[in-house]
Formats: sequence, C-alpha cells, structure tokens
Amino acid sequence: MDPSAGTRLAAWIHRRAEGEPVAYILGRRGFWGLDFEVTPDVLVPRPDTETLVEAALPLVADEASVLDVGTGCGNVVLALASERPRAQFTATDIDPACIALCRRNAARLGLAVTTRIADGLDGLDGPFDVVVGNPPYVDDADARLGQGDLRFEPRRALVGGPNGGLDVIARLIRKAPDRLATGGWLCLEHGDEQGDEVASLFEDRGFVDIRGHMDLANRPRVTVGRWHGGTS
Ligand SMILES: C[S@@+](CC[C@H](N)C(=O)[O-])C[C@H]1O[C@@H](n2cnc3c(N)ncnc32)[C@H](O)[C@@H]1O
Repeated sequence: MDPSAGTRLAAWIHRRAEGEPVAYILGRRGFWGLDFEVTPDVLVPRPDTETLVEAALPLVADEASVLDVGTGCGNVVLALASERPRAQFTATDIDPACIALCRRNAARLGLAVTTRIADGLDGLDGPFDVVVGNPPYVDDADARLGQGDLRFEPRRALVGGPNGGLDVIARLIRKAPDRLATGGWLCLEHGDEQGDEVASLFEDRGFVDIRGHMDLANRPRVTVGRWHGGTS
C-alpha cells in the first residue's frame, strides 16, 4: 500500500472511532441503487427512506408533476426520477447547501430536476400531482439527538419542533391542498411512533384514501393520502 493511503486510512478510522458517519467520511452513500455525494450539510440517506420511494412510485404516472419537499442531497426525488424519466420533478429545501448538492447529484446521475430554495410549501407554483417529503420529525428534546451518528447530522434536518416533533409535518399537511392537483397525493415519511397521529392529521385536513406503509423493520414509516379536490 502506498504510504499516503495508509495515512488517509488511519485518519478515516480515527474519524469513525469518534462516531462520524461513514457516509461523511467517504463522501458517498448508496440509495435506491444510485450513488449519491453526501456532505455534512445533509442528512445521510437512510435505507428506511426507500419505503417513501416505494410508497410514492405507484402514484407517480408517466408524465406526472412531482414535488419533493426537504430534498437534502436529492436522494428521494432522484430515485423517483430514475424510475419515471418522462415525469417533471421539482426539489426544494430551506438550506441552499442542500439545493447545491441536489443539483450536483442530479447532474452526475444525468437526471432532470428543477430546484428551489423554499420554506415548506411557501411560494411554490403548482399544482403537483404528487408531493413527497421526508421532513424533520424528531422532538427537539429527544435524547437520541446527542447520541451516535445523529450528533454529526444537521439539526435542521432532524428536529421537527417540541411536543412530539410534528410541527413541520403538520404544517405540510395543512398547506398541501393548496399545491395539489385534484386527486393528487401527499406522501410523507414520519417517525415510527407517529403513524396514528399523522394519519389523524391527514384525515382532519380532509384527505381520503389514507394508507400507512411499513419500513424494513415492519414499523409505521410512511403515510399517503389523496386530496379529493374540494375547497381547501
Ligand atoms: C430528514 S431530512 C431529509 C433529506 C432527504 N430528503 C432524505 O430523505 O434523506 C429533512 C430535510 O428538510 C429540510 N428542511 C427542514 N426544514 C424545512 C422547511 N421548513 N422547508 C423546507 N425544507 C426543510 C432540511 O434542510 C433537510 O434537508
């Protein structure tokens, strides 16, 4: 082994021993069979988030318009784009660094996506046939934020507010009807203990055909609902 490679490996091992996620050390993470650049500006894509792609994919028609809110490195929107080459994709994030990274990943993968810096659904055009999102949903007092890999990830990508962490999700559900086409779908990832509460939020807002999807460990992870098209 070339001595510089040994030095680099030792530095990586030291960083990992300190708890830094492997994806930040290597600058890469696989998701949906695609290779994504990741930096400490974005959440490391999780295998469980493939559940969101699996749940949304059957709802995305060939020429649908799709919005991904809180795109991070673009893993969800680009996974969908890789499966539906004729659909139109928009990706947003509140963090400009995430948008820059999403654009780099899109270019490297040769996939087309329009990007916007935006807070939630504010200021976006539409209507969209499908809105997907993996918003921050950890309670800001959750002790796990101080443990393991989460210590290294951006707080803005994780924390969804106090009292259960559902503030960002609740706001998206409240506002989504203003951005959805008649019969359009909202598909959201959430915490494994939030499934019932998220389904109630969908129902209270007037969504229909509400369904939950289980993650790889058979825990509630994604809820989808259809907007009937009535007055929002
Ligand atoms: C849990 S991460 C999801 C990243 C990626 N979509 C994934 O599934 O791996 C949440 C993302 O939402 C973004 N975000 C947080 N608050 C937001 C808001 N109010 N509006 C738009 N994006 C937001 C964060 O910057 C972060 O990139």
